[in-house]
Amino acid sequence: PARLRVLSGIQPTADSFHLGNYLGALRQWVLLQDTHETYYMVVDLHAITVEQDPKVLRQRTRVSAAQLLALGVDPERSALFVQSHVPEHAQLSWVLECQTGFGEASRMTQFKDKAAKQGTDHASVGLFTYPILQAADILIYQANAVPVGEDQRQHLELSRNLAQRFNRRYGKTFTVPEPHIVKDTAKIFDLQDPTSKMSKSASSPNGLIELLEDPKRSAKKIRSAVTDTGRDIVFDPEEKAGVSNLLTIYSALDGRTVPELEAAYAGKGYGDLKKDLAEVLVEFVTPFQERVQSYLDDVAELDKVLAHGAERARAVAAETLALVYDRVGF
Ligand code: ADP
Ligand code: NA
Repeated sequence: PARLRVLSGIQPTADSFHLGNYLGALRQWVLLQDTHETYYMVVDLHAITVEQDPKVLRQRTRVSAAQLLALGVDPERSALFVQSHVPEHAQLSWVLECQTGFGEASRMTQFKDKAAKQGTDHASVGLFTYPILQAADILIYQANAVPVGEDQRQHLELSRNLAQRFNRRYGKTFTVPEPHIVKDTAKIFDLQDPTSKMSKSASSPNGLIELLEDPKRSAKKIRSAVTDTGRDIVFDPEEKAGVSNLLTIYSALDGRTVPELEAAYAGKGYGDLKKDLAEVLVEFVTPFQERVQSYLDDVAELDKVLAHGAERARAVAAETLALVYDRVGF
């Protein structure tokens, strides 16, 4: 049987991915290549919903792609591309905007949250219609499955509604995507405030591990991570959020299960755990950074890889768009 098709994207809005991005999402991208037909993109169209410096955006787009390659996204197995290189996303988005109720779009809570932060007068219309572009991203590839975290559930629901509505109105056109709940996705917490999630925007510099920062700096952050006053190394997110977070990171990077780690550290102290985890992390990021650098040393080759990915993506996207245009009477 044909493999199910999966689509996912990440924004080029930081100089580096962070450990939460990797352990919570990108690691699954790599694994899904074994079982699914995978489409992965750097979503630069989504990035400009808030103001971006053009030079910085262009650089971050390439660095994002280089990081995906260095993490194990294989451009032969996956279509790896930059969203703006496939114009059909924006073209389908317009058609879908015309299928979306204003009230329906207004109920998207992520817009409300983000607009509240920026002030509604300053928030762009693009930020408002962002979930519709996201629906286009998914539907243009007839994706069966979309890996989603809790914060994206409502947007996937909109994609499903739009697919079903369009199909009812114009005849079967789109695959209705299902959420792909990935097992073993780790939620990673801020090292300095282990009750809030590690995040590029909300974490303090010492609470956030950036994959491209100096590994010595990362090691230091691990060694100075906040832990509680007890001494036993046990996984207990309620009572021991800091230690539990370190165990989650350790397990994800090293392959041992949390119970195996608990057993290995029985009778040892937090200092031992942090010291060892710092080493494991350095051993992971050092060769990763070398691979990223080698991709960035040959930008022409990197751009060629991305052009090849866009070509593969367009072959599918153009077919869907042609059908959609025909259906609506263009
Ligand atoms: P951020 O929250 O830092 O702005 P994004 O929202 O751009 O990161 O997230 C990109 C991907 O990384 C999403 O799939 C998101 O679920 C995942 N992700 C981000 N932070 C974490 C975290 N702390 N733990 C697990 N996954 C995370
Ligand atoms: Na976020």
